[in-house]
Amino acid sequence: MTETGTGVTGPTDSALFALPKAELHLHIEGTLEPELVFELAGRNGVGLPYASVDELKTHYDFSDLQSFLNLYYATMDVLRTESDFAELTRRYLATAATQGVRHVELFFDPQAHTARGIRLETVVDGIGAALDEAERDLGITSGIILSFLRDQPVDAAEIILSVGLSRIDRIIGVGLDSAEVGHPPSLFAHVFARARDAGLHVVAHAGEEGPPEYIREAIDLLGVERIDHGIRAIEDPELVARLAGERIALTMCPLSNVRLRTIGDLAEHPLRRLDAAGVRVTVNSDDPAYFGGYVGDNFVAVRDALGVTAQEAERYARTSIEASFAPDARKRELLSEVDGWLG
Ligand code: ADE
Ligand code: ZN
Repeated sequence: MTETGTGVTGPTDSALFALPKAELHLHIEGTLEPELVFELAGRNGVGLPYASVDELKTHYDFSDLQSFLNLYYATMDVLRTESDFAELTRRYLATAATQGVRHVELFFDPQAHTARGIRLETVVDGIGAALDEAERDLGITSGIILSFLRDQPVDAAEIILSVGLSRIDRIIGVGLDSAEVGHPPSLFAHVFARARDAGLHVVAHAGEEGPPEYIREAIDLLGVERIDHGIRAIEDPELVARLAGERIALTMCPLSNVRLRTIGDLAEHPLRRLDAAGVRVTVNSDDPAYFGGYVGDNFVAVRDALGVTAQEAERYARTSIEASFAPDARKRELLSEVDGWLG
């Protein structure tokens, strides 16, 4: 146990890192560390508008979601080959393993790659190869979620879904991300219905910058099983009660919300208040290379800023496993790993 910023004793950093958990909100392209940007740029002959890693890092000061997305889409241009995607994923998994990740469901943004002439199969096969290795070598299980870019035309999402369905063996679900405001879930109802009909799981980013109404639309019109972020639900008590009653889990990303200035200070984060209201909440990292921490770091940050206790951290970890799309037998196995954590 350790003294937290709120004067309460909480779990130590190493205990929070060791806590077995599932990561349910992770953009694999958001794990592209600046050092790897330079390595891949060199390998692939891609010119960069930055002289050094340190100069690139000076651009990691974001004013909102869009300012981050501009850099995120620009830097991923260094990812060209199947082995680049495998290397990216391998490095994420090596770090995730040290932070207690035992199962991960990661997003990828196929349209951001096909727009650059890179085939969806190249991306999926690279990511998939590294995930297979991690299951064998690290015991981390996983799934891949194809995420539609909501700020691109709906027709483009329909097309990329058709391509994705040709690799349905490798994909467990679909999601919805990129610039939220002005791009409501309702636009994507037909694409999501097709995905559901194909047997895929469905999730969507909602209530990150967008209003609580987008969370309602994601539930009612897309049929989502989880909401990614959902922080703005806290503005709407009726919606909070509904999320709790319908047991819809939120995949929250505290450090991301601070870095993208969707909240002013971590101490204002609604994670703990939503938990207290009976909403199923989980802690995740979103784009850890850009936001100053992986999932274990996010647990440490909410302990310090919100006074999250060991019992609460354990509940968030259990929820991450229960709300995952892992087979029931795997969920039972992971929940029993959590059983020993508090001692
Ligand atoms: N794509 C990558 N990170 C994202 C985020 N935090 N919100 C929306 N789209 C994203
Ligand atoms: Zn996200």
